[in-house]
Parts: sequence; structure tokens; C-alpha cells
Amino acid sequence: MIKHFLSLSSFSQSDLLSLIHRAQFFFQNQHRPENIHHLLKNRIFANVFYEPSTRTRCSFEIAAKRLGADIVNFVPDNSSVKKGETVYDTLKSLESLGVDGLVFRHADDYIIEKLQPLLKLPLINAGAGKFEHPSQGLLDLLTLFQEFGKLEGLKIAVCGDIKHSRVAGSLMVAAKIFGMSIYLCGPESLVPAVTDTHIQKADFDEILPEVDAVMMLRIQLERHENLDLDPKSYHHQFGMNHRRQLSMKKHAIILHPGPFNRGVEISDDMVEHSQSRIFKQMSNGVAARMAILEWTMSGRIQ
Ligand code: CP
Repeated sequence: MIKHFLSLSSFSQSDLLSLIHRAQFFFQNQHRPENIHHLLKNRIFANVFYEPSTRTRCSFEIAAKRLGADIVNFVPDNSSVKKGETVYDTLKSLESLGVDGLVFRHADDYIIEKLQPLLKLPLINAGAGKFEHPSQGLLDLLTLFQEFGKLEGLKIAVCGDIKHSRVAGSLMVAAKIFGMSIYLCGPESLVPAVTDTHIQKADFDEILPEVDAVMMLRIQLERHENLDLDPKSYHHQFGMNHRRQLSMKKHAIILHPGPFNRGVEISDDMVEHSQSRIFKQMSNGVAARMAILEWTMSGRIQ
């Protein structure tokens, strides 16, 4: 059985909880090679990123290495893509070369759905256009779970360019699975229509004192054709800063998937504030991706 990791929507609550617990195990054991280094020995993954990445690409690479696997970093700009090779032909070639799993990022929302039935090896969605970023979703859930010991009933504000955010896409899927409440905030043109009881629009300043966590999002300039944005005015209306942090509950945390634009959606002093878990999210990214890589290989014969 081929175990693709494409969307959080294909998981039940108990399956996702198992992945979160496994990620927590890896978080606690990542520096104990004697406990984990044998788990994916002799496996080879390929990082295939058609969009830039720092955190996701590097953390999948570190995750693979911590589990004893090798990983090939395919760079489109330095490959036969430059000679006209299609995405399908590239992935099929890596399959033929003997790769065990593909970690794949692309700007197209739908390409992963189209390619998955054509491949005989696990495909891991490392960010698909505006659709979903499920490995980010898992690390966000892990971060919330570590903080609150539960997910059900949590209230989370999401602020920024939600319409173009695959991070928000995965968080909204998770909210339905776990019964979390999501409050969408930001410029009217960047907040999607709401179609679910767990998800509602809200005024950022009004909802902040009510929530357990706030997920700040960057404006995805690469997905806009004409956006007239004044960073100062945006920060004043929708940025996380000292004034807004003071209105939050003392136990509430600040999240951001990165990369962040300091002074736009988040002020410099908030990035490493005591209520910020932004760098914790990144550390958790390695553990979450270890759980994902192991899960995808659990359906394959060595
Ligand atoms: N959060 C995230 O996906 O970051 P990268 O684009 O750097 O991978």
C-alpha cells in the first residue's frame, strides 16, 4: 500500500493524534541516535522543491538523516528542467532511480492530486500552492499540543493573507477534525468566505483577548499580481506588536510559520517574545517530519 501524505483531511482524529504522539517521541529522542537512527536505514528520499524553502526543505533533510535515511536534494534550476523536462518526467525519473519517497513542493494548487495516481512511491506534500501545507499543519498541532495538552476547544486567531495561505488551509482542516475554533482576521480582500461552524471571521483587536493562540501570516507577495501594500499602515491595522500582545491572555501564544517580515505582520520584539513559539515551531518541524517520513514508509516493504 502506498502511503501518500497530501492533506490532513485524509486523516481521522485518532490517526492524527498517533502522528502527534509519534512526533513528540521524536522530539524527545532526536538527539538519541541509539533509539532512532536505525528506523529508516537504507531508505532514500528526494527533496523536490519547485518553490523556495528554508524550514521545510532543511527540516525534511535533517529528519531523514536523524532516522538513518539518505536524502537527495533535487534543484530544478540546476537540472534537466532547464532542458524542458516536465514535473511528471522528473518525478518518474527519480522513482526509476530508486528513491523511496518524494518530498514535493510546487506553486500549483492541484498538481499533487494529478501526479499522485501516476506514481508508485509515497508523495509528501511539502506545500502545494494555496491548497495545503500538511507537514506545517502537523508541526503546528504538535506545538499547540505541547503547550495546552489538548487540541479540542482551543481558540485560535489567524491574521493576514489567509486567502493565499496553505498554512491556514491545513489549520482549518485540523480545526474541523479536532473541534478547535478558528477566527479569521485581516484585510477584507485577503480573508476567504466562511463555510464551516468551526471557522468564523472576526475583528483582530476584538478577538485577541479571547484566544489561546494567534497565527500570524505573511502577505504572500509571490501570489499577488497587483497588491498596493503600505507596510507601516498594514502593521498598524493587522500587525502583532507590544500593544496587541498586552491585550492577549497571559497563557496565549504567538505562532508564525515563517518566513516572517519583521515590521510588517510582526514587530521585531515579538519574534522572540516570551509568548512567541515561532522558533519552537521550527524545532518541532524536524520531529513532525520524522513522524511523517516514518509513516509513509510503514506501507512499503524494505
Ligand atoms: N513555513 C515554511 O513553509 O517555511 P519555508 O517556506 O521556509 O519552508
